[in-house]
Parts: sequence; C-alpha cells; structure tokens
Amino acid sequence: MNVIEAIESRHSVRAFLDKPVSDELLTRVVAAAPCAPSWACTRPWIYYVATGDVLKRIREQYVELYTSGAPRANDLPTEPKWPERENENQLAWGRQRCRVQWNIDPNSTDPAEQARFDAIKKHMRIMAMRFFDAPAVIFPCMDKRLHNWALYDMGAGSMNIQLAAHELGLGCITAYHMGCYPEVLRRELNIPEHLNILLGIAVGYKDEESCENRDKAVRTPVDEILTIVH
Ligand SMILES: Cc1cc2nc3c(=O)[nH]c(=O)nc-3n(C[C@H](O)[C@H](O)[C@H](O)COP(=O)(O)O)c2cc1C
Repeated sequence: MNVIEAIESRHSVRAFLDKPVSDELLTRVVAAAPCAPSWACTRPWIYYVATGDVLKRIREQYVELYTSGAPRANDLPTEPKWPERENENQLAWGRQRCRVQWNIDPNSTDPAEQARFDAIKKHMRIMAMRFFDAPAVIFPCMDKRLHNWALYDMGAGSMNIQLAAHELGLGCITAYHMGCYPEVLRRELNIPEHLNILLGIAVGYKDEESCENRDKAVRTPVDEILTIVH
C-alpha cells in the first residue's frame, strides 16, 4: 500500500475481532506518531496504551460509571457548538450511519422503527463505553501547560498512528468519549496529573462481518474545499 492508497482507504473501525494485538505491533504503530511535524520540533506526544487485564478493568468501570449516570468529565471540553456547515455534516453523517449500518430511517414516525432506533442507540452508547471491545486503546496525552498549537501536533501524531495501523493490517477508531472518565485512566494507567488525556484511539483487527463497519464516511470533494489562486 502506498501512502496515497493508505490515506484514501483508511476508515474508522467500530467492531473488532476477539484477537489480541502484540506489544510489538502496538509499539510500531505508536512509533509513527513522533514522525509527524511539530511546532519548532517541540514534540509534545506522550502515549499510554491499555490492553489485557488493565483494559478489561477500565472497560468495566466505564460501563458502571456510564450506567449509573456519572457525568462525562473529559480533560478537554467536549460537545462544542458547531457552525452550520460542520453541524450539517455531522447530522448528515448520523443519518447515513442509520441507513447504511442499521437500515433505519431516522425520521420514521413508525413507533416500532423508533423503538428499534432507540435500542440501537442505547447499545451503541454501551459499546462506546466498552471501547467497541477493541483489544487495545491508545490514550494520547499532553502536558496541561501546552497551548492550543500543540493540539495540532497531537492530531498529526494521531493521523500517523492510524495510517501505520492501517498499513500493518489493523483498524482504529478515535473517540473523544474514550477519555470521558479520566480519573479511571489516571488510576489504572498511572497517568500523572500534569498530563491532559485527550481521547482514546482503539486499535485491533477489523471485524469485516459487522454492520458497524459497513458505513464509509463521505469525503468532501476537493473542489469544495480548495481555492488555488494564480
Ligand atoms: C477528535 C475526534 C473525535 C472523535 N470522536 C468520536 C466518538 O466519540 N465516537 C465515534 O464513534 N467516533 C468518533 N470519531 C470518529 C469520527 O466520527 C470519524 O473519524 C469520522 O466520522 C470520519 O470517518 P472516518 O474516520 O471513517 O474517515 C472522532 C474523530 C475525531 C478526529
């Protein structure tokens, strides 16, 4: 796979095989992060990976906290209000997932259809708290004193991680909700207080059969985002 092929064929994976990922592979994947550019070579990247028994314990605590109604407490503020264009993109993506993954019309007024939709949403929220049952989750962290520009570098590092994983036959899903109970992560992974935990990147072998992996998020055509001026 060349780089362009990797970029164009990568998609988020939300269902994984029950198959562990070796420490060697996880290390190779994370080693791609510091190959990204960073502001004046400041290299803000720090990663913790949960797998095996530790991930099992984190998963149990996440589900318990979520089902008991504990409020999400991500280190970075979440659920921002999006401007119209991005808000509509988000809504359209949600509608597409309903149709492609679950064969549901989200606007249906049929009570049976609505009940099915509610059940799916509930199931997906729990699966999200279970890190989609991935065998490993990478938690990108950065020093709390770093400014917003470091987030740019962290994002570049995350992209490298996802492309390296793709090349190595693994799938990933980046998700902010995976950082929603940071106190659990700090305790289980010994993450020091001076680091912000940005989110989680779940990694594993893609379950090709699952409907959760059927959806392919749309790509904005380049002519809608590009202006070249001569
Ligand atoms: C910062 C960030 C946070 C995300 N959070 C979530 C999340 O909480 N739950 C989820 O299912 N996907 C999450 N995603 C994945 C996006 O939904 C996904 O990348 C987007 O729909 C495009 O699909 P693709 O990754 O297949 O290209 C997140 C992605 C990013 C970059």
